[in-house]
Amino acid sequence: MADKMKTIVLGVTGSIAAYKAAELASRFTGEGFRVDVIMTESAQQFIAPLTFRNITGRPVVTTMWDIDSEFSVEHVALAEAADVVLIAPATANIIAKMACGMADDMLSCTVLATKAPVVIAPAMNDNMWSNPFTRENVAKLTKRGFTFVGPARGRLASGKMGLGRLTGLDDIYGITLQALGRKGDLAGKHIVVTAGGTQEPVDPVRCLTNHSSGKMGYAVAEAARNRGAEVTLISAPTALAAPPGLKIIGVKTAEDMLKAVQEAVKKADALVMAAAVADFRPVKASSQKIKRQDLNELTIELEKTPDILAQVKGSFIRVGFAAESHDVVANAKEKVKRKGLDLIVANDITEMDCGFGADTNRVTIIDSKGKVENLPLLPKGEVADKILDKLITLLR
Ligand SMILES: Cc1cc2nc3c(=O)[nH]c(=O)nc-3n(C[C@H](O)[C@H](O)[C@H](O)COP(=O)(O)O)c2cc1C
Repeated sequence: MADKMKTIVLGVTGSIAAYKAAELASRFTGEGFRVDVIMTESAQQFIAPLTFRNITGRPVVTTMWDIDSEFSVEHVALAEAADVVLIAPATANIIAKMACGMADDMLSCTVLATKAPVVIAPAMNDNMWSNPFTRENVAKLTKRGFTFVGPARGRLASGKMGLGRLTGLDDIYGITLQALGRKGDLAGKHIVVTAGGTQEPVDPVRCLTNHSSGKMGYAVAEAARNRGAEVTLISAPTALAAPPGLKIIGVKTAEDMLKAVQEAVKKADALVMAAAVADFRPVKASSQKIKRQDLNELTIELEKTPDILAQVKGSFIRVGFAAESHDVVANAKEKVKRKGLDLIVANDITEMDCGFGADTNRVTIIDSKGKVENLPLLPKGEVADKILDKLITLLR
């Protein structure tokens, strides 16, 4: 699980987007992280230190020369305390200073002195971003292991459209968690996760699918990323935003998913099959739209889709899911045996607060020896971590 008592040093610099850093500070603080904010002098022209002080409940560092500040006495204190340094928004100026190894204010000093990973979320005018100086500075920092997230294309402070906008806060959040967990208990492992409900075409506009939202699979993929794993997420169509820091392969049908899984598991330590794969598909999909006025009734002949878990075997750990509407444990126990799985995660999809579409889930985890563990109702992120806890003991 992501360690909530870790320290995030949030560097805020002089960009119009500085106000968005308050939202980031709030989100990290709300998740239980200790957030220490360092503001450059320019940043203080855009947003008041008081905002961050109230959000984080921590003193905000605004200068190196405040002799009463616990951090100024030992000017590298925050560099040592940091588990990650996130600079959001990052100006062209701070990027240039970091690329030169400068240390003329508290933020650049902290970056130069820290051993923690540094995540940079740039925000600037598009010409500043495309300027060869900035390009060289970004390349230099990337080569030295600094992580960039964004910028995004969109409306800039100048009013014109271009590349330079602070990227979405979800992406900055996800990449920061990934940086924090880079030495986690799944570091060095490659986990393949499937998610979403496959779509089997009837004709060019219609398909057979199911109610899977993909939330459980996405939660497993993100939790694995936050514990240091390299994650490949093979996703059937969902309404969810693509989580940052993952390799995402989009598929539609069970057949597509089979091919993608077969390829991905070649280098995998574990496969977590959270997708709701269609069991049946139309024998023949019409190449043209089936017209209502041409028919009084329509019968669609179905055939079985490939059984992915039965077809992908190897030296990796295999975790299946069982979405059941009755006899949940008995059916899951039978499935874990029949498919030769290492673990199965079963849930009753008829319960209101569980299963498809919900943000919470109440699952039962059953291992290959038939040992049953019932978990209480939990957010899907926490269920994901419980599944990964079990997976890690199997990987060992
Ligand atoms: C209204 C205004 C908006 C600015 N927005 C940005 C910006 O988004 N990105 C950027 O790199 N510089 C921006 N600048 C310029 C920086 O504030 C300036 O380069 C400053 O020296 C950066 O200092 P810092 O990197 O120490 O925070 C802006 C300046 C003004 C006056």
